[in-house]
Amino acid sequence: MKKRVITTIIALSFNSHLLASNDAEAIFDAKCSACHLKQKPIDKSKVVAPAAMGVMRHLKQEFPDRDKAIAFIKDYVLAPSKDKAICMPQKIKRFGLMPSQKGNITKEELEKVAGWMFDNFPNKTGTKSGAGCKANMSKKPNIKKPFLIKNKNLPHFVGLIQKNWDNPEFALDEKQKKLLSIIKKDTLQGVKKLSLEIKPLEKKIAMMSVQKEPLEKMIPLVEKVASLKANATKMHLLCIKKTQEVLTDKQLKFLTNR
Ligand code: HEC
Repeated sequence: MKKRVITTIIALSFNSHLLASNDAEAIFDAKCSACHLKQKPIDKSKVVAPAAMGVMRHLKQEFPDRDKAIAFIKDYVLAPSKDKAICMPQKIKRFGLMPSQKGNITKEELEKVAGWMFDNFPNKTGTKSGAGCKANMSKKPNIKKPFLIKNKNLPHFVGLIQKNWDNPEFALDEKQKKLLSIIKKDTLQGVKKLSLEIKPLEKKIAMMSVQKEPLEKMIPLVEKVASLKANATKMHLLCIKKTQEVLTDKQLKFLTNR
C-alpha cells in the first residue's frame, strides 16, 4: 500500500513537470513509449505494439496532411476502434486493439505528442527498420526496380558502370566520368521519386483487396501504378540512350558482355 502511494506521488509530480516543461517527447516517453518503442526493438518477443516509426509511416500514407494526421491520432488515442485503425488488419491481429488512453493523457498533451510524432517519425535512420504495423514490415522495400519492362537485354548501366568506375580495362576518361555522374544522378533521383509514389499505392491496393473493397475503386489505382512504372521504364531507356552517347562501342561491349 505504502509503495503504491509513493509511486502515485512520483507519477503525479512527473505529470506536473511534464505540463510545465512542454516537452512533447517527454510526454511520449511517459505515456506512449511503454507500448510504442521509438526505435527498432532488440528483443522482438517483448514488443506489445507497433513501433512509433511504423505507426507514423502508415499514418502518413493515409494522412500526408499534418493537421489531418494529428486529428486522427488525437481521436484514436482516446477512442481506438477496429473501424478507425488504418494499418489493419495485421496489426490488430498481432497486438490486439490499443486500449483507450482516456484519463491517462490530457487533450493538450495529446495535441503536443501527436505533432511531435508527425514531425519526428519515421526518422531517416528508422525508415528501413523497426517493428512496423505489419509483421513483415522489416522487409526492405525494393525501391530500385520499379520498372514496367524488366528484360535482360535492357542493361542497368548505372550499376554496371559504378562497378567498373576505375577499372583500367573499361578505361573511362575524366570527361566521360563527369557526364556519367550527371546521368546517374538524374536517373537515380527520378526513379527513386517514382518508386516512393508506387510503393504506397501498391500497399493501398493490397489493403483494399483484403478489406473487400469494390474493384471499381481499386482499378484506377492499378492504372496509376502502371503508368508510374511506364515512366520509370522511360527513364531507364533514356539513361541507356544517354550512356550510349557517352561511351565508345568498345566500352559498351565491355559492359554488356559480362
Ligand atoms: C498499453 C499499450 C499502449 C499504449 C500505452 C499506447 N498505445 Fe498506441 N497502440 C497500441 C497498440 C497495441 C496498437 C495497435 C493496434 C491498434 O491500432 O489499435 C496501437 C496503435 C496506435 C496507433 C495507430 C492507430 C492505427 O490506426 O493504426 C496510434 C496513432 C497510436 N497507437 C498512438 C498512441 C499514442 C500517441 C500513445 C500515447 C499517448 C499510445 N498510442 C499509447 C498500444 C498502446
